[in-house]
Amino acid sequence: MTALEVRSLGRTFGGLKAVHRVSFRAQDRQIFGLIGPNGAGKTTVFNVVTGVYEPDEGGEVLLDSKRIDGLQPYQVASRGIARTFQNIRVFAEMSVVENVLVSAHMTARVGLVGAVFRTAAFRQEEKHQLERALRLLEIFKLDGLALEQAKNLPYGSQRKLEIARALMLGPKVLLLDEPAAGMNTGEADDLNEQIRWLRDEFELTIVLVEHNMRVVMGVCERIHVMDHGETIAEGTPEEIQKDRHVIAAYLGEDIDDG
Ligand SMILES: Nc1ncnc2c1ncn2[C@@H]1O[C@H](COP(=O)(O)OP(=O)(O)OP(=O)(O)O)[C@@H](O)[C@H]1O
Ligand SMILES: [Mg+2]
Repeated sequence: MTALEVRSLGRTFGGLKAVHRVSFRAQDRQIFGLIGPNGAGKTTVFNVVTGVYEPDEGGEVLLDSKRIDGLQPYQVASRGIARTFQNIRVFAEMSVVENVLVSAHMTARVGLVGAVFRTAAFRQEEKHQLERALRLLEIFKLDGLALEQAKNLPYGSQRKLEIARALMLGPKVLLLDEPAAGMNTGEADDLNEQIRWLRDEFELTIVLVEHNMRVVMGVCERIHVMDHGETIAEGTPEEIQKDRHVIAAYLGEDIDDG
């Protein structure tokens, strides 16, 4: 079954076709890579899928075969798509565990009245969310740092903290924008293991934008390659590694197909 489908998606900025007629399908529980050189349009795809930008050049986004294009970001999130950002967005002055808990209010089942009067149901919900947050931190080996200010974490750990926060939404589809940026080899290997574990544990579909080939080739089951806003290849990691269009794009060369 297809979890996330993008059909002939298009987005422009001024005269620039940042994303042009891009189509792909990520299957249930698949780890799907979206790669390409700088400026290829990968982050723009995420921004259109999550409702940050409208697809002004047309196209459709479907989650479990239902259209979600045109929805607001909070609506997309509540349908089950969570994401992390290419530029780290942790709340620097807040503690690690508070950073994870900030997305809990979106899933909380107890309303404002419960929060104001601190009803038993509210306290129960709060406890439940705290347990979930700590469990997610444990996955990323951050539980020992739960009370540390987020700004004191090394860069790689901040990226993992962002993934933990995204998972608090209980998503079906997780979009990761360059999670391995700034990580050393050891951290990237850990990340590979964690991504696979998360997919299995939470039955997630994961779409991964990444430049680190150790991560891309290490975890992705299928890879979609973009260059200058357009699709240039899709296939298995083995197929993508030997695709001449892909190799040329990464080397900055043009291919004459004539
Ligand atoms: N908000 C915006 N306004 C104007 N141009 C934009 C905007 N967002 C993206 N672009 C442009 O669209 C193109 C695609 O950008 P995008 O960020 O999607 O690329 P990317 O594949 O994520 O690149 P990178 O690997 O460097 O993150 C680039 O030329 C970029 O400058
Ligand atoms: Mg990007």
